[in-house]
Amino acid sequence: MDFALTEEQTMLQQMVRDFAQRELAPIAGELDAKSEFPARHLPKMAELGLMGMMIPVEWGGAGMDTQAYVIALEEISAACASTAVTMSVNNSLYCGPLHAFGTDAQKERYLRPFASGARLGAYALSEPASGSDAAALQATATKQGDRYLLNGRKNFITNGPHADAMIVFAATDKGQRHRGISAFIVEKDFPGFAIGKIEKKLGIRASSTCEILLEGCAVPEANRLGAEGEGFAIAMNTLDYGRIGIGTQALGIGRAAFEFARKYATERQAFGKPIAEFQAIQWKLADMAMQLDAARLLVHRAAWMKDHGLPVTKEAAMAKLFASESANGIAKEAVQILGGYGYICDFPVERYYRDAKITEIYEGTSEIQRLVIARSVLKEIGT
Ligand code: CAA
Repeated sequence: MDFALTEEQTMLQQMVRDFAQRELAPIAGELDAKSEFPARHLPKMAELGLMGMMIPVEWGGAGMDTQAYVIALEEISAACASTAVTMSVNNSLYCGPLHAFGTDAQKERYLRPFASGARLGAYALSEPASGSDAAALQATATKQGDRYLLNGRKNFITNGPHADAMIVFAATDKGQRHRGISAFIVEKDFPGFAIGKIEKKLGIRASSTCEILLEGCAVPEANRLGAEGEGFAIAMNTLDYGRIGIGTQALGIGRAAFEFARKYATERQAFGKPIAEFQAIQWKLADMAMQLDAARLLVHRAAWMKDHGLPVTKEAAMAKLFASESANGIAKEAVQILGGYGYICDFPVERYYRDAKITEIYEGTSEIQRLVIARSVLKEIGT
């Protein structure tokens, strides 16, 4: 086992850290306060190759691996969690399945410009009445000649209001439950496609989240991603990889909270000395540091396994679950270390606390991650 980053990985980390700390961190609070989508950063991120990191150069991406992706995404997340999820959805939930399941013609039109960062993608699985139970989705896709008519509502769609295209999951055969679900590449300008309610959120306020309305939305047959009935497997496979990204996002938020609280503890005086000299604070810092390290190891293991072509369903769920619960615990303790200053908006710690919460919810709640892990460990002994 080699835990050291290669020279190339270290350079990437430094390059992304410099960019994130110089350009994202200073205005993350302002974007959050205004719920302003980080559109102004995306061209620069595209230039740095951050929007399609794992997509081969021939398809417009940066041709890097998952380990490089998590190294970069941790840096973006530590600076601005909203920008991080915008990047993560485009990379793993949109470009990922396009690359894995798309035809060459689909890749030409719907992967190349998205992997290069010229355009933005989204992923539309959740619905008002089906989140955790994804196979219970109600949206339908009815074949009519050489096109499908999509009807239904999707919600909590990250990047939705700004996406040029998205992967939409709908039932082509409702009677077949998950085996009757298919995936479609839907452009924002297709007739019958509309943006619904824009959500106001507890955290990651600068990322954009909305409802999608499909009313007889006409999608060419050539835009079906994969075979009819293959949509659920595509959705699940995509989420396996997406969860590595959300684990990384949590890691970055947790790291930012830890680093801020640690510095504060060395500067803030109480009872005649810096509070970092009190055991009550030291124990918190010790636990925070340990959880971050463990989260990073789980995230990197899942990324490494994916890069080596190994199945990662269980490991991605573990990485996401542990990193997100750790980030929430770390952000909570960071608020506590800062006391009243942790609670007011003059310091970024209250934002970290709010931003961390979503990592326990989207791309599968903590309860769903436990279910995925439990099913997997039981299968290992043949039950
Ligand atoms: N990869 C490929 N196929 C998979 C799979 C995986 N990881 N997991 C399951 N499948 C396949 C199974 O093999 C099975 O196929 P067959 O019947 O053909 O063999 C089929 O899918 C059904 O599997 P299950 O019986 O396990 O399905 P289930 O209905 O019990 O549900 C679940 C499984 C894990 C609970 C799943 O519904 C799930 O992950 N739910 C959470 C959904 C989720 O994460 N939503 C997030 C929305 S996206 C988002 O949040 C984006 C954002 O904004 C950032």
